[in-house]
Amino acid sequence: MAHQRFLLITYPAQGHINPSLQFAKRLITLGVHVTFATTIHMQRCINKNKTIIPGLSITAFSDGYDDGFNSAADVDVLSYISELKHRGSECLTNVIAYAIQQGNPFTCITYTLLLPWVATVAREFQLPSALLWIQPATVFDMYYFYFHGYEEYMIQNVKEPTCSLELPGLPFIFKPRDLPSFFWPSNMYSFALPSFKEQLEVLDLETNPIVLVNTFEELEHEALRAIEDIRMIPIGPLIPSAFLDGKDPNDTSFGGDIIHGTNDYVTWLDSKPKLSVVYVSFGSLAVLPKRQMEEIAIALLDSKHPFLWVIRENNAKEVLKYRDELEQGGKIVKWCSQVEVLSHHSLGCFVTHCGWNSTMESLVCGVPVVAFPQWTDQTTNAKLIEDVWKSGVRVDHELNEDGIVERDEIRKCLEVVMGSGEKGQELRRNSYKWKDLAKEAVKEGGSSDKNLRTFLDVVGNGK
Ligand code: UDX
Repeated sequence: MAHQRFLLITYPAQGHINPSLQFAKRLITLGVHVTFATTIHMQRCINKNKTIIPGLSITAFSDGYDDGFNSAADVDVLSYISELKHRGSECLTNVIAYAIQQGNPFTCITYTLLLPWVATVAREFQLPSALLWIQPATVFDMYYFYFHGYEEYMIQNVKEPTCSLELPGLPFIFKPRDLPSFFWPSNMYSFALPSFKEQLEVLDLETNPIVLVNTFEELEHEALRAIEDIRMIPIGPLIPSAFLDGKDPNDTSFGGDIIHGTNDYVTWLDSKPKLSVVYVSFGSLAVLPKRQMEEIAIALLDSKHPFLWVIRENNAKEVLKYRDELEQGGKIVKWCSQVEVLSHHSLGCFVTHCGWNSTMESLVCGVPVVAFPQWTDQTTNAKLIEDVWKSGVRVDHELNEDGIVERDEIRKCLEVVMGSGEKGQELRRNSYKWKDLAKEAVKEGGSSDKNLRTFLDVVGNGK
């Protein structure tokens, strides 16, 4: 097999960058040369993290927002995605052409979601490409079926909250609230579905489309096989080695944090008893309404467990009123190394928005969760956590007509997960089971490890 040279490109958001950098590290350990194409802002973040990723080459281009793009407004996202396509295609074309000219051509291009144009650029150079899907296989299936004959069925059924939906190959029944929020009648974001549609059309054009999925065999056995025409290859979890297989104890962070905080929370965690701390985080994007933040604050204070709560700067003023009390009962940080926190022995429960990375990290660290989804894939991830993997309980958003989850509901969920009752014990047992299976999958000879090696052989032999 000739020496492999991969070009990897990622949408510049934290939840996309983290698994991509981890994927790059995995490839490098298998002897692949990796060039990471990203925006100037992301390149600066990677450099600022001082976590040198040995062997990784970075090539940067300007997306027009060298200080970072952070608008959540739909119209902005739409024009951002189109600008990224324009500037990114140009950069990629130049990088690929230059590599050919230098006699070091790339052997494969991989790309994450919202960048379907990458496959088109790859095809122009007759280069193989693969989509790195950074959400669960189940969610990919849902988008696939929506754009392959099930659109009408889903649109009709999703209007009625009590309806049950079934999709080919998926062994569960879904309620409308379990589908990605982009399918809901209330969806305000028009950028997502057209991009997923374009992505699937691009894959339909390929002879042997390959989707690498940040999941593992045991977690989504059926979902990985639900689509006949697309080869879905599980290669996850994409989590730093120190928290997973332990092969590289120095690999303790993803290496691309966009936000930074202090790390005095580790000393604070060290001072807490085993399994006593509630960790609360809603990822890198979600901004919660003031009332929701207040309900969470009161529930945490009432439940009396020590808590570590990540409140990013753009959501901080919403709990100003309770700040002093919160600082007494727990600790508030702007950002932390989440994998480090989740793997700390004091952790008892994770109140999470169910972003796919947070979900995988909870499973890898064996921490049961209170699932508190906000939008996109998080609603499906919450369904999987509660009903399929049984490693957490989901808050009920429908109890209050504004969709605000009130203090009693949050407290009730916390009691179940933190409690020593039968349900709490079952959740913990299941979390430990998933932790073991996740570790098995990535160790040498494990399913994800073998899958990645086989994929490299396939690319290397031009199959
Ligand atoms: C986004 C989407 O919202 C999510 O639904 C999708 O699955 C991936 O892209 P985000 O909302 O940021 O991601 O959530 P998540 O997927 O959980 O990713 C957040 C990442 O930031 C995780 O890897 C987490 O470990 C990290 N993080 C978060 C920290 O390191 N520190 C923090 O304080 C908070």
